[in-house]
Amino acid sequence: MARLALFLDGGRSPDAREGRSAAVIAGFSPGHPWAGACSALGSRALTFGDDAGNFLLTDTSLDQRAGLPDDLKLLIDRYPRETWQGHDNLGQMARFWLQRHAMFRDMGGTLLGAVDDWREQKLDATQFAQFFVPRLNWFLGELEGHHQIEDVHYFPVFRRAESRLGRGFDILDNDHHMIHDALAMNAEAANGFLKRLAEGGDALKRAGDAYATENDRLVAMLMRHLDDEEDLIIPVILDRGEANLGV
Ligand SMILES: [Fe+2]
Ligand SMILES: [Fe+2]
Repeated sequence: MARLALFLDGGRSPDAREGRSAAVIAGFSPGHPWAGACSALGSRALTFGDDAGNFLLTDTSLDQRAGLPDDLKLLIDRYPRETWQGHDNLGQMARFWLQRHAMFRDMGGTLLGAVDDWREQKLDATQFAQFFVPRLNWFLGELEGHHQIEDVHYFPVFRRAESRLGRGFDILDNDHHMIHDALAMNAEAANGFLKRLAEGGDALKRAGDAYATENDRLVAMLMRHLDDEEDLIIPVILDRGEANLGV
């Protein structure tokens, strides 16, 4: 039986992640007056205070939020999604980047569907592995590379261009760490599942259930991340233009 590679082992150790300040994880710059409060509240991303000065506690971590917080919607409100495709400033880079996101959405759905097909016995073990393994390997590897390019190249450009959205890029950066961990857990669960495919029985059912849980969680987080990332970044591109931004 083909064995899935676990190739998500570099760059972001748990120690390194824990070394990041809670304030950064929560979306605050180190000097922000609320930064100190975050250390007592763990790694949940939080926002504080509404227009009336009331204290709010809004969870913006990837597995909890339902979209960008209101204070980060200042440009998406001016450039709603339905205007993007017809906008003159939606250039080649943005179109390519949106296509990549569309591919990740499609493949996420394909992987969920393949696991469902196996569980419903529409595919036998061999058919499932032949279909699933190359696609999952592609998905894990391409996602990891995509995030690295965003972290190193694109996020700094957009963060400099629109400082009012800086907290949004902290949130997206934290998303990447959460997705990275989910990718590693997905690969591990997939390896366990694939090893038991030929055995059958309860062990295989448990491994299949465990993998399906990891896969559902990863894909759900990825869909949320892709939507919010586009809502933050595409309006910056439309507002400034790719040539002016240097992307
Ligand atoms: Fe991303
Ligand atoms: Fe992305």
